[in-house]
Amino acid sequence: MAQEFIGIDEMVNNPQPETKSLRLPVLKGTLGPSVVDVRDLYKSKKIFTYDPGYTSTASCTSKITFIDGEQGQLLHRGYSIEELASQSTYLEVAYLLFNGELPTKDEYAAFEKEITYHTLLHEQVIHFFRGFRRDAHPVAVMIGVVGALSSFYHDSLDIQDKAQRDLASLRLLAKVPTIAAMAFRYSQGHPFMYPQNNLSYAGNFLHMLFGYPTESYEVDPVIERAMDQLLILHADHEQNASTSTVRMAGSSGANPFACLAAGMASLWGPAHGGANEAVLYMLHEIGDKSQIPKYIEKAKSKKDPFRLMGFGHRVYKNYDPRAAVLRESCHKVLEVLGIDDPLLELALELEKMALEDEYFLEKKLFPNVDFYSGLIFKALGIPTPMFTALFAVGRTAGWIAQWREMLEDPETKIGRPRQLYKGEKLRTYVPIVKR
Ligand code: CMC
Repeated sequence: MAQEFIGIDEMVNNPQPETKSLRLPVLKGTLGPSVVDVRDLYKSKKIFTYDPGYTSTASCTSKITFIDGEQGQLLHRGYSIEELASQSTYLEVAYLLFNGELPTKDEYAAFEKEITYHTLLHEQVIHFFRGFRRDAHPVAVMIGVVGALSSFYHDSLDIQDKAQRDLASLRLLAKVPTIAAMAFRYSQGHPFMYPQNNLSYAGNFLHMLFGYPTESYEVDPVIERAMDQLLILHADHEQNASTSTVRMAGSSGANPFACLAAGMASLWGPAHGGANEAVLYMLHEIGDKSQIPKYIEKAKSKKDPFRLMGFGHRVYKNYDPRAAVLRESCHKVLEVLGIDDPLLELALELEKMALEDEYFLEKKLFPNVDFYSGLIFKALGIPTPMFTALFAVGRTAGWIAQWREMLEDPETKIGRPRQLYKGEKLRTYVPIVKR
């Protein structure tokens, strides 16, 4: 296909105001908006582009995940999230994200075995947990321990070596749930549970979260499936803040354990993965349906920093398809577990009233994945501070897949944005006695 170009009128003020036309190449993907290639702009014109928050900037090419924010569509390697959530498993989705294709039966069995046999941590890692306060947030503990893995697995730190990258990928996918579960157990003062190789990925995670060495833990298939589905729904979401952080950290050649710790730190914020926790606190604070209008008004007020947590998204200007799946499974899980949670009713009413409100309609603010996930986590018996840790467990597959893709992309360069400097010009230093 012939290369397309876009013409941009450039006002040049010096020495005389005049308009010059700029021709920039346009790159086309398989889906989604085209991209203006500005790579040579500085070299040829000595100007930068300005885009705080990257609202209009593609930072890389990717074949992993596609989001159509207007339609509310999410695809992983071309497969819809609805199909994956209802028919696949988290490990299969992880394989798909890593390798680009769904595994055959044999490939799946081999992958599952590899992951299962990497779930144990080096015994020495356990001492790290004991250095944390018991009331430490589980994500704080995870960031520390995942970063610390780089000091244990020296045979998987060479990012130039594909075999070492593969080994680090398996290790991270296998060990992050073990670390998350240990962070939780430590906060409770309960014994750490070693992984069990006869259990599924989600089943083993539940066993490590809720089992006891004194008795055998029966994995409830409903809870196991719900956990697996939650992990699938969090597995990847293209170039979000935490994934971009993983890519940025990795672009300098940092090792994968350090990169994932960086991604977890970015995920932790309430505007990103921390929102699932914040939704639960918000629902508790609202407390009663009669209070909803007051909170909607607060969210709309420019003078009030309060936002409806679990609402709005940079990319989705329609219902987040992950929220749609979770809304449905939330009802199912609560029904099967025989739980009558008044918070679900409150959440449904809040959603209804917000979606009837002109402000939310006009700004296209719909419930996102975090709006309903917390209610399911709660029903599964997971305490609120663990919610973001669970998001991190699910997102691990996406972080690794995107890190691998970045390293295999010949166009990858160290991430190094430029700036619009508005500070002082050169001035003369004044010694302190003369100031
Ligand atoms: N409640 C009230 N107003 C909102 C909300 C909200 N939740 N979200 C956005 N707005 C308003 C915002 O005030 C702004 O209004 P105006 O144009 O008048 O200034 C407009 O909508 C656009 O918002 P923005 O902050 O410029 O949009 P953004 O793309 O930079 O931010 C967001 C996206 C997700 C950070 C934001 O919607 C938000 O803070 N939501 C609440 C936190 C949340 O649920 N985060 C989870 C995101 S999904 C999962 C994940 O990625 O981890």
